Amino acid sequence: MTTTAAPARPSASPNATHRILNFSAGPAVLPEEVIRQAQQDLWDVRGSGIGICEHSHRGPVFDAIIDEAVADCRRLASIGDDHEVLFLQGGATLQFGMIPMNFLAADAVADYPDTDVWTTKAIKEAQLFGRTNLAFEGAKSGYDHVPTTSELSLSPNAAYLYYCSNNTIYGTRYDAPPKTTAPLICDASSEMFSRPVDIDRHALIYAGAQKNLGPSGVVLVIIRKDFMVKKVRKVTVMMDYEVQAKNGSRLNTPPTFGIYMMGLVFKWILAQGGLAGMERRNDEKAKVLYDAIDGSGGFYRGVSRPECRSRMNVSFRLPSEDLEKRFLKEAAAQGMDGLKGHRDAGGIRASIYNAFPKSGCEALASFMKSFVAKNG
Ligand SMILES: Cc1ncc(COP(=O)(O)O)c(C=O)c1O
Repeated sequence: MTTTAAPARPSASPNATHRILNFSAGPAVLPEEVIRQAQQDLWDVRGSGIGICEHSHRGPVFDAIIDEAVADCRRLASIGDDHEVLFLQGGATLQFGMIPMNFLAADAVADYPDTDVWTTKAIKEAQLFGRTNLAFEGAKSGYDHVPTTSELSLSPNAAYLYYCSNNTIYGTRYDAPPKTTAPLICDASSEMFSRPVDIDRHALIYAGAQKNLGPSGVVLVIIRKDFMVKKVRKVTVMMDYEVQAKNGSRLNTPPTFGIYMMGLVFKWILAQGGLAGMERRNDEKAKVLYDAIDGSGGFYRGVSRPECRSRMNVSFRLPSEDLEKRFLKEAAAQGMDGLKGHRDAGGIRASIYNAFPKSGCEALASFMKSFVAKNG
C-alpha cells in the first residue's frame, strides 16, 4: 500500500488564493465571509473540537445549527407559523416530481405556465401523475417573457398553479406572482431571497440552494401546513412533506454541510439589510449590465423583453456566434468565468446572484464597452 502525505492545512493567509470573477449560473459564487467562516468550521465548529462535516446530525451542535437556520430563514422572509421550513434533498428536480406526486390526483388538473426549460421539465414530471394545463406557451415567443395576466389561460378548479419566478436560462422573471385563486406553487431556485417574497401568497415555494443560498445538495422548501396535509395518494416517506416536517428535516441523515452553509448565508443576508437590502443591491448590479446592453447601439441584444428582465441572470446575444466565441475567450483572459449561455439559449449569460459583487458587474460592463469599440 502506498501512503500519501496528509493534505496541507489551509493557508493561514487565505487571501493568497487567487479568485476570479465567477458568473456561473450554479453552483455559483458564495459570500466571501461565509466561505472564510466555513474554512474554519471545517476544522472545528463552534469550539466543539470537531469539524462541521464530522458532527452527528442528531447531536447538540447540529441541533443548534439547524434550529438557528430555520429561525433565521423565518426572520428573513417573515415566515409565520402557518408554514413549515424544510431542508430536503434531490435538488430542485426532485421537487418537479414530488409536488405532483403529493398534490395532483390522476383525474385532476394543474396549471403550468411554461416559461423556460425548467418549467418544461416540471410539466413532464407532473404528467406522470395527473393532467397539466399549459397555461402559457413561452416557446412561441422564444421564452422572451413571462405571461401577463391576460396571456394566462387558467383552468377552473386547478389543483394548483405552478410557476418559476425567475427563469435562469432566458433571464426573465415575474415582477409579482401570477394571479390565481388556485394554491400557488413556485420554483424560486435562481432568485430565492434576492428580493422580498410574499410567503403567505404561496402554498409551497422552493429553491435548490446552489445559486443564492449555499452549496448544491440541499433544497429549501417552505410549505403551508394546511396544504401539506392534502396528499392525494400514498407516497414513500422521503417524498412525504408531512413526514419530513414531523421529523424536522431529519428523517434520515440530512445534508448537514449544506444546511450549515445555508444558515451562514441567511445570517449574511440579514446583515446586508435583509431582503430589501438584497433587492437594492441586485437592482443596482443588474442595471449596470442592462445599461451596457441598451447603450451598445444594438450590438448586444437582451434575450428578455425589458419589462421582464431578471436581476439574477442577464442573458444576451451578439451579432454572430463567432463574435460570441471571441467575447467569451477575451472575457476569460480577463478573469471572467462562466459567461457562456445555456446550451438551449446560446449566447452570453451573466449570473449575478446575491453574493456577486457590483464591482464584477462594472468590470464586465467596461469589458463589453471596449469589445463593442473594437468589433462594433
Ligand atoms: C429555476 C431552476 N429550477 C430547477 C433547476 C434544477 O436544479 P437541480 O439541478 O438542483 O435539480 C434549475 C437549475 O439550474 C433552475 O435554474
